[in-house]
Amino acid sequence: MKKFLGTLDWETFHRMDPFQKAPYFQGEDGRPYHVLVAQQFDRAALEALGHLATTVRRMAKTEKGMDFLAGLLRHKRAMLYFTQPSSRTFLSFTAACQILGMPVGEVRDTAVSSEFKGESKEDSVRTFSSYYDLIIMREKDGGLAERMAWVFARTDRPVPVVNAGSGKDQHPTQALLDIYTLQRSFETRGGIDGKVILFVGDLLRGRTVRSLSWLLTHYRNVHQIFAAPPELQLASDVQEALKKAGASYELTDDFETHIPEADAIYMTRVQDEWDLPGERRTFDNRKYGFRVEHLSVLKSDAVLMHPFPRRQEIAVEVDADPRAVYWRQMRNGMWIRVALIATIFGKDHDILESGLIS
Ligand code: NCD
Repeated sequence: MKKFLGTLDWETFHRMDPFQKAPYFQGEDGRPYHVLVAQQFDRAALEALGHLATTVRRMAKTEKGMDFLAGLLRHKRAMLYFTQPSSRTFLSFTAACQILGMPVGEVRDTAVSSEFKGESKEDSVRTFSSYYDLIIMREKDGGLAERMAWVFARTDRPVPVVNAGSGKDQHPTQALLDIYTLQRSFETRGGIDGKVILFVGDLLRGRTVRSLSWLLTHYRNVHQIFAAPPELQLASDVQEALKKAGASYELTDDFETHIPEADAIYMTRVQDEWDLPGERRTFDNRKYGFRVEHLSVLKSDAVLMHPFPRRQEIAVEVDADPRAVYWRQMRNGMWIRVALIATIFGKDHDILESGLIS
């Protein structure tokens, strides 16, 4: 049920957990309006988005289909405010906007904006928002996207905000593309229900794992295994949420022995950009890396995923194996973002009812 963000003072809103916040991000009709936390998506929403993404990708195979898509949001403009390093997610969103005919503007470097002159981030984003109809944000400091949604709710231009990665906290659209990849991978095997998902690497500071592990609780009998050295193991707030949801999960520091039982393995890199001065938290790729010899113990129909960028945690020789789906996973990201943006602007029905699928 929708709640109005404009009625809350910042402190009250800021202190809420993602579950309490989620209803404030929904639109009138149950569609997402802002996309800020994974907790705002239930299973029905995940299925609807996946179906829409597949419809779009089929439609995009013909010139007529592409023309139709490019006409849907020609009258809207998007701003990408990406002040944290990104090219993959940045271009994925850019391409998604382009597919929908939406012109985009960008801010990549605050050194060339008035933030350099001491302007607050809040004032800069609010200024830029006055030229655009959708703000897509990636920021090193968690919480700015939520703050902006809260600020906009107090103005006469409450434009939607999409979180494209906030600090160490959330990456909801990556989780959507990961779920879409799992949906497609298990399409002929009873879907995601009943599957074993093995997460590996820096699970403490990787925001993609924090968002995805929650979405997996919407599926029946899923077992999640988190393999990491103890100092990089899944944070306690995520574990609490999993417990509360009655999700089945286990923690281990032993990756290799769990490979044969996994239906999907989700590798991650060390997130050492978050090391404090003088700190060096890392893991050994010999212990938490996927090597060619692991292919022989991996189930024949399992999938190997990675949000990328990778360091050495997956050997490049593994790329040729059909179970390595990380390149497909990226392309899925573009399609799910098309589906998401179309849904935010209420164009989902136009796509589903166009009759243009090849
Ligand atoms: C991830 C991120 O930025 O959190 N990358 C991405 O969006 N695909 C993962 C990472 O940087 O390790």
